[in-house]
Amino acid sequence: MHRRKIGNRWSGLPRDIVTIDVPCNWLQIMENSIDRLHFEWLHIRFHNLALAQSGQEPRADPSREIASQRFADTYEETEYGFAKRTSFRRPDGSERSAILPFVFPTGGQTGLPRAPCLQLRTPIDDENTRQYFYTLYDLEIEMKARLRSQLGDEILDGNRVQHLQIPPPPLGEPNYSLLLSNVYQDVSIVLSQGRIHDRSQEQPGSSDKGVMLYRSLLRRELAKLSDGKDPINVFREPSPNDRIELPRRPKDGVSSLYPRAAGRPSGNVQLWSPFLSQLERLGIDLNEVLFGAGSPPP
Ligand SMILES: [Fe+2]
Repeated sequence: MHRRKIGNRWSGLPRDIVTIDVPCNWLQIMENSIDRLHFEWLHIRFHNLALAQSGQEPRADPSREIASQRFADTYEETEYGFAKRTSFRRPDGSERSAILPFVFPTGGQTGLPRAPCLQLRTPIDDENTRQYFYTLYDLEIEMKARLRSQLGDEILDGNRVQHLQIPPPPLGEPNYSLLLSNVYQDVSIVLSQGRIHDRSQEQPGSSDKGVMLYRSLLRRELAKLSDGKDPINVFREPSPNDRIELPRRPKDGVSSLYPRAAGRPSGNVQLWSPFLSQLERLGIDLNEVLFGAGSPPP
């Protein structure tokens, strides 16, 4: 079988991998990430609770403003799996839509325009999943030149990929300062469903359209397997199957609607990123790296 690359044709960029072993079934992790409402509830409202509980100032809650700007969430099947398209209207009246791609069966692209992150949720067994966060850092030319003498070519050109395995959040009484990480927020939620969630009592609503589409794709592709056919994303010939191209993260996409926190950026695995930790030790402003020079402070 031929291994096909996933993602944008970005070579010569620094990158790193963070992994976390989550003691639950992979389907819970996928469905949480597809769920359209979890961002506002978990990563904004719960995040504010965690800030307050750990003695920090909560941020202004932009959930209502975001909800009023976002007017449609649709899901569409694509060559690589499916995508969530969010359409929103900016305060100046202009309309935009942004795509969040899911690579069948367990991949998805998240992150920032300057730091796209490919996530893979790989089953270890029915009750354990290894999550991979593979992040690229699209540095501005001046920043790359400034770092070259300090970090060396191998890391800056992406030829040496640093990896860090992080533990899952501890069970028991919540540690709210750990729960300021949005990865730990996600992992805590999926762990609270148990190792394999009992879905016999669920009542899907209109906001679960994406989850329903995903389940129907899983059933359809499993049926192909039992008929002896290949499911999607199985490639047996190298040519022309070099790469699964994913849409680039737009600079004015949905993530631009969300507020940035003060301090070290905490989206995805940015709190643990070996590359960002190196930059922080060198005294580099991580917001400049992730959002570009001259970007407004959070
Ligand atoms: Fe999340």
